[in-house]
Amino acid sequence: MSPESPRAAAVFQRLAALSRKPARPPAVASQFWSDPYISDHILHAHLDPDSDAGSRPPERIREEVRWIIAHLGWSYLLRGAVKPPGPLVLDLGCGPGLYAKEFSRYGMRVVGMDFSPAAIDHARRLNRRDKRCTFVHGDMTRKAYPTGIDGATMIYGTFGSLSDRGIGAVLQRLHRVLRPKGRFVFDLFGEEWARRHALSEQWYHVRKDGFWMPEGHFVLEGSWQYNAQQTIFNVYLLVDEHGGVQRQLVRHRWFSDEPLRALLAQHGFSLVQQVPVDADWRMVVAQKQPLP
Ligand SMILES: C[S@@+](CC[C@H](N)C(=O)[O-])C[C@H]1O[C@@H](n2cnc3c(N)ncnc32)[C@H](O)[C@@H]1O
Repeated sequence: MSPESPRAAAVFQRLAALSRKPARPPAVASQFWSDPYISDHILHAHLDPDSDAGSRPPERIREEVRWIIAHLGWSYLLRGAVKPPGPLVLDLGCGPGLYAKEFSRYGMRVVGMDFSPAAIDHARRLNRRDKRCTFVHGDMTRKAYPTGIDGATMIYGTFGSLSDRGIGAVLQRLHRVLRPKGRFVFDLFGEEWARRHALSEQWYHVRKDGFWMPEGHFVLEGSWQYNAQQTIFNVYLLVDEHGGVQRQLVRHRWFSDEPLRALLAQHGFSLVQQVPVDADWRMVVAQKQPLP
């Protein structure tokens, strides 16, 4: 055996510490979407019409937008009966602005918010000639929301990626700016989906231009399951060429009815309706209520 180098020992210890599953689900997950390099990569997935990795396929988005408009309470827009200015919707986690573009076709005004720089840049470019759409770069759990909002959306699993604290921060902000009885439509994946997407333990080497970083690195991946909290974290340990080690955590949280109802009620929202879309996904309609 060669004498142990202090550097190698430090890498080993860091890996050991980062791979240890905490007793309770960590309060924060990684904010990898906001990393400029990663956000560029994700944008390609969003814009690939044949992949549903970032956004749903275009035809499905068009269908979904009509459903959302009807369930925000604005079916008249679908009949082309809009009187400007149309209702103002806040699209939380708007990604590259694909939904905003569709909402605007029905005369709605849209504020999209997202903390991915590449997604927001693209959303601004895509909707640059449309005065009805504006985009804010920022973390929806920290940033103040624009006032005078008539309805809100959060689409493609983002609700299930947030911690209870993050969801609380979003609902509190939304409650402040949403008009009385205004609606919030979002989607949720189910337990089966979360379990199917849980990573098995494995490792691999990426030569360059990987998802997480441009230079060569090793990925050690697996998952932490917290059944009582209805949460699975996918865990990625990344070891770069210089022996740097970092961890990325991706939260997948599913909800049964009661915890969801309670979480919404705690922040002044009632659960109006839940509609299954397919075996994995359901749409949720919540409504602002007066706070007690
Ligand atoms: C799966 S993508 C969906 C994007 C878009 N709704 C769509 O379906 O095309 C989730 C989006 O939420 C954004 N996001 C996640 N957490 C966020 C946060 N805390 N603040 C702002 N944006 C967030 C990500 O950057 C990403 O663009």
